Amino acid sequence: MFDYQAPENLLQNKVILVTGAGAGIGRAAALSYASKGATVILLGRTEEKLDTVYDEIEAAGYPQAAIITLNLQTAGETDYCNLATSLQQEFGRLDGILHNASILGLRTPLESYDPTIWQQVMQINVNSTFMLTQALLPLTENSDDASIIFTTSSVGRTGRAYWGAYAVSKFATEGLMQVLADELDHNKNIRVNCINPGATRTNMRAAAYPGENPSANPAAEEIMPLYLYLMGKDSKEINGQSLNAQ
Ligand SMILES: NC(=O)c1ccc[n+]([C@@H]2O[C@H](COP(=O)([O-])OP(=O)(O)OC[C@H]3O[C@@H](n4cnc5c(N)ncnc54)[C@H](OP(=O)(O)O)[C@@H]3O)[C@@H](O)[C@H]2O)c1
Repeated sequence: MFDYQAPENLLQNKVILVTGAGAGIGRAAALSYASKGATVILLGRTEEKLDTVYDEIEAAGYPQAAIITLNLQTAGETDYCNLATSLQQEFGRLDGILHNASILGLRTPLESYDPTIWQQVMQINVNSTFMLTQALLPLTENSDDASIIFTTSSVGRTGRAYWGAYAVSKFATEGLMQVLADELDHNKNIRVNCINPGATRTNMRAAAYPGENPSANPAAEEIMPLYLYLMGKDSKEINGQSLNAQ
């Protein structure tokens, strides 16, 4: 799917929520989905970044986006419930969710890993993803073709030294995806999969590999074919898979 050519109207009339939409891969995905006709709900913690993406979508003449400022580290059940209620009132359904927001945490041995940071990583990368999914599932059930995408990493498939909570959180993400995909296997209107973006030129990559030349990796815009394929109807039969974007 690396060279998937999405039709211009692939996501026309679709309502898609992207977490971590203000920067990096989430920003590129939001713009990419909007360019194919989707109304994109931009969720993130930094309002100015979301405003900028909103303006970019508007300037390009794509369908008007929506902004939800939410800190996934501190949000609780009530916040997710309120979010679901307001999306229900505004849109009545969700055709796609891209769970993309994550933090890296520490690159350090487990022996010295700060437990507070461990909990932050698990809260943002795993617990919030579960709570958001649980709250929004009824909205995806109102769609006749919904795609839920989680974001994994190669360190979430084979453990690697010093990747700590981040690696463990991505193993959990793969597990979350598999459990949900199996539970929804009977429902031909919802599919659930993971994307592993692979090394991509973003702030997170720079933080993980400070000595690396950023131009060694593709920009987030270059890995969008799989993001579009899995969100659009051409992937209707794909469920429970963990796919590489590169
Ligand atoms: N880049 C890579 O090479 C690579 C490789 C494998 C997997 N991934 C995965 O791909 C996804 C995107 O990564 P990226 O490289 O684009 O990272 P990034 O540039 O650091 O962007 C992460 C996004 O998540 C948001 N976010 C972080 N904490 C949040 C919180 N508490 N509440 C709400 N939003 C929050 C950030 O918001 P702010 O901008 O406001 O901080 C930002 O928009 C992640 O799941 C990552 O694990 C990336």
